[in-house]
Amino acid sequence: MGEQDQGEGLGFETRAIHAGQPADPATGAVVTPITLATTFAQGEVGQHQGYEYSRSGNPTRAALEACVASLERVAHGLAFASGLAAEDNVLRLLQPGERIVLGNDAYGGTYRLISKIYGAVGYPWTAVDLTDLDGLREHWSPDTRMVWLESPTNPLLTCIDIESVAGIAHERGALVIVDNTFATPYLQQPLTLGADVVVHSATKYLGGHSDVVGGFVAVDDDELAERLRFTQNAAGAVPAPFDCYLVLRGLKTLAVRMDRHCTNARAVVDLLVGHPAVDRVLYPQLPDHPGHPAAARQMRDFGGMVSFTLRGGEAAALEVVQHTELFTLAESLGAVESLIEHPGRMTHASVAGSPLEVPESLVRLSVGLESADDLVADLEQALDRI
Ligand SMILES: Cc1ncc(COP(=O)(O)O)c(C=O)c1O
Repeated sequence: MGEQDQGEGLGFETRAIHAGQPADPATGAVVTPITLATTFAQGEVGQHQGYEYSRSGNPTRAALEACVASLERVAHGLAFASGLAAEDNVLRLLQPGERIVLGNDAYGGTYRLISKIYGAVGYPWTAVDLTDLDGLREHWSPDTRMVWLESPTNPLLTCIDIESVAGIAHERGALVIVDNTFATPYLQQPLTLGADVVVHSATKYLGGHSDVVGGFVAVDDDELAERLRFTQNAAGAVPAPFDCYLVLRGLKTLAVRMDRHCTNARAVVDLLVGHPAVDRVLYPQLPDHPGHPAAARQMRDFGGMVSFTLRGGEAAALEVVQHTELFTLAESLGAVESLIEHPGRMTHASVAGSPLEVPESLVRLSVGLESADDLVADLEQALDRI
């Protein structure tokens, strides 16, 4: 597979390992070299081999961009220094006065970026329940130019019917942006469902090992891609070549990791559903989960994130998160090790008092790749304390 060849006819796992990553023509190295050079020699003014300056383009970054674009089944990929840098790049498609509709359940940092940074300089925004399609139509404001959604959402794992939201938004002249961090391109490809742009926190499943912060934007439309690429260079929030290498390395095992994340999540869900201390289990595979039909339609499997509420309220939630041993109490998600957190006080503290506020009794799990039996036993002993 050549560097520009996206391997259209090949399977996901093959593209994850090879797309954008031919053997190095200079040495035959089978792993994409980490090109640290900030600048590239020119034979004559303006005559170069595709790279001039590393903010504008870098060979290791180009390999990552080609690989994730191939996995999302789109023509263009852009890598960034963090998920929020990727989001910021996308929000710069808008002009002041153009409204953003944000799903009313989303990562706290996304809410903070839209409400506190963009909202403060003249970009109106509204938080909307995107599971209510009639409500979305009824409350549509003519200045809306962008609908921003996660599916499944962080932290309530709500699943949004991407195709229907895209239909409504496109009829009214707005773009649809999907944060695909929780699902990953292995489980869901939003552009094939009608979305215009996908964003990722590559810090999570794409990297997969809690050792790199990164972001990604995937887009099919050439004109949108050109505008996004212009801002990527002009604003400059690009990732380091070493970080690109780490994400490329993570991607090679994305499919097998996601399969096991899903299997382990199911084992944990089985425990939670039967435990007397637990009030509600939020996992899109459960038939009583409101997002189940959308998830079953648009996802290959249901993911590695599980949230639940406790009958004993916030005190019980804090007790559980402080007493697991294998599940580490920490922010972030999507890596090989299991993590547990209290969204209200940790990842989602910034949404307190907003329409995106999360329940106090909520606990979020990122189910990792340890032995399922060990994970279940760990969680059970923490729940049994209550
Ligand atoms: C769903 C989602 N989107 C975006 C982000 C932001 O990504 P980053 O932390 O890489 O900036 C996060 C971070 O937790 C997230 O969970």
